[in-house]
Amino acid sequence: MTRRRIDARVELEFLRATEAAAIVSGKLVGRGDKNGVDQAAVDAMRGVLGEVDIDGVVVIGEGEKDEAPMLYIGEHVGTGDGPKMDVAVDPIDGTTLASKGGHGAISVVAAAERGSLFHTHIAYMDKIIVGKQAKGAISLDATVEENVRSVARAMGRPVEEITVAVLERPRNDEYVRKLRELGARVRLFGDGDIANGIIAALEERSRIDILLGIGGATEGVVAACAIKCLGGDMQGRLWLRDGEEAIAKEEGIDPTKLLNLDDLCRSDLSMLVATGVTDGELLQGVSYVRGSAYTQSIIISSLTNTTRMVDGKHDLQAFVKLGALNGLSSTTLLKEHVPS
Ligand code: FBP
Repeated sequence: MTRRRIDARVELEFLRATEAAAIVSGKLVGRGDKNGVDQAAVDAMRGVLGEVDIDGVVVIGEGEKDEAPMLYIGEHVGTGDGPKMDVAVDPIDGTTLASKGGHGAISVVAAAERGSLFHTHIAYMDKIIVGKQAKGAISLDATVEENVRSVARAMGRPVEEITVAVLERPRNDEYVRKLRELGARVRLFGDGDIANGIIAALEERSRIDILLGIGGATEGVVAACAIKCLGGDMQGRLWLRDGEEAIAKEEGIDPTKLLNLDDLCRSDLSMLVATGVTDGELLQGVSYVRGSAYTQSIIISSLTNTTRMVDGKHDLQAFVKLGALNGLSSTTLLKEHVPS
């Protein structure tokens, strides 16, 4: 079978999409409007993704066609003229954070070869993520204590120096209790599973050694696209709420199955691009100064085997002009920055 090569330029096109989402939605940060900030990001991201030379299908998106008018699961994105790809979007991971002006909201696009990304309608996944040094040292079949000791051994550090990030939810309380009893350092975070998972796998930012706990299933798959490129390790297992057994049955998924990194992202060609919406540990959020928007993004890609931090300065007049051509809401949201 001949496959169209995935051109590395696609990374930069995805970057334009997350930057646009951050620039437009960034105007609504802190206004207490969760849906508004998300919709602005979706709108901007979709405008740019439509121009990318890929034959993409959204496998992780804003929901089903009847509930989400844009970037819904199954929607074709791109010009259709290019390689076949699975596209996973999270126009804002941390919508609550963004609506409150809290730390760490990001805009994300991840992608891999068509048919390679795990997808399900089950909402939650138990997950563990580590960087390269601890590859092979984790197992969701082992206890929390065994995992932390094994990671500590692999990293050549005592357990007391190991920092474990856990999404602060009642369903993760037992993990937190065990980690504290063991003496590991615990870092609770309120939202933003993807950014914290990436930090755990980015060795040069080793503020977090392990991400552990039950968070969004789709966020797990999005993170997997980056973990794979970074040479880190990850395992997941779906975590069912009442009534979700029926979904698993319908999808033909064994919900008890341990999902390895290769089950979550089967392709060796994957990438993740993210832009900061609000200031966070992984990325600076967008800011607006005298007619320009400043962005910070990360591109993690196995196409080019690179992790790049990208600072952008965007002339808002030019941005709006381009956005207006695409019918984006940026025209209205950004109008106060643009001299008439
Ligand atoms: P949203 O941006 O969709 O609100 O997701 C934020 C988030 O914290 C994710 O990073 C995480 O995986 C998920 O929520 C956890 O879901 P819940 O808030 O239902 O526990």
